Amino acid sequence: MGRLDGKVAIITGGASGIGAGTAQRFVEEGAKVLITDLDADKGVALAAELGDAAAFLQTDVSQEDQVAAMIAEATDRWGRLDCLYNNAGFGGALGPISATTLDDYDLTMDVLLKSVFLGMKHAAPVMTAQGSGSIISTASVAGIRVGFAPHLYSVAKCAVIHLTKTVALELGEHNIRVNAICPGFIATPLAAGRPDADESQIQQLRESGAASQVMGRVGEPRDIANMALFLASDDSEWITGREFVVDGGFEAGPPWSRWPRFARMERPIRHHRPPGR
Ligand SMILES: NC(=O)c1ccc[n+]([C@@H]2O[C@H](COP(=O)([O-])OP(=O)(O)OC[C@H]3O[C@@H](n4cnc5c(N)ncnc54)[C@H](O)[C@@H]3O)[C@@H](O)[C@H]2O)c1
Repeated sequence: MGRLDGKVAIITGGASGIGAGTAQRFVEEGAKVLITDLDADKGVALAAELGDAAAFLQTDVSQEDQVAAMIAEATDRWGRLDCLYNNAGFGGALGPISATTLDDYDLTMDVLLKSVFLGMKHAAPVMTAQGSGSIISTASVAGIRVGFAPHLYSVAKCAVIHLTKTVALELGEHNIRVNAICPGFIATPLAAGRPDADESQIQQLRESGAASQVMGRVGEPRDIANMALFLASDDSEWITGREFVVDGGFEAGPPWSRWPRFARMERPIRHHRPPGR
């Protein structure tokens, strides 16, 4: 028996990286999944690979009419909506604050934050009528602590966490859970800095990134998919209004091996012990 048997999910940004890994995981666990993305080539191919349990709809999550159509597609096709995973994203504006244009600002916030607001707005009535649902959004460790990502990306992800909490307070009485996932460094095209990154470029990323990781490897889409699976399943039925860090320890600090001063301290420290102990 699958952990998502009988459930219907939408995954935005589902054609690549974390979204694609989650679509695959959800289908393995018995869900019907509507994959949505700007990238139709990858989305259609993935839906075909996953079979009858998956379908694809090209959607720009920053456009309200397209988000509304995405929710309607899932309910028209499968009659309900148990999980909306707001996951689509990109790196957003780069560079110094003085060089960031208003257009850069608008696009970054539209794709990373307005999209999540729109998803919640249009999923809420369907889930309220149903009396159940789980809304998940991909934030980031960059939304918890600064210094991991550019200004606007960090701010947008921080706002996703806050929006998650405030909407959770509203929708809880309808048995709708609202949670966010904060990934660390995950081997995807986004982390490689190019949406068209191929497998060899992602592999280079794994190799160059491993040393900075507490667990000795960077994350994989499946690491995030497993948390999304938990949050979409009934196993998390009393969990709402939280951000879940899935980062292999990254946000806690650098690996011990990167602190040579501490790592060299092999001598046991005896002189603070009281006499006789
Ligand atoms: N990879 C990481 O290290 C990392 C870390 C923390 C958070 N995240 C977040 O995880 C999420 C998924 O990213 P990923 O790493 O899997 O990257 P990815 O590039 O592999 O996937 C992102 C997908 O989102 C789609 N997308 C972008 N703009 C869109 C739009 N306007 N409408 C619909 N689809 C759109 C892209 O086409 C792409 O398929 C993002 O929200 C990202 O910010 C990633």
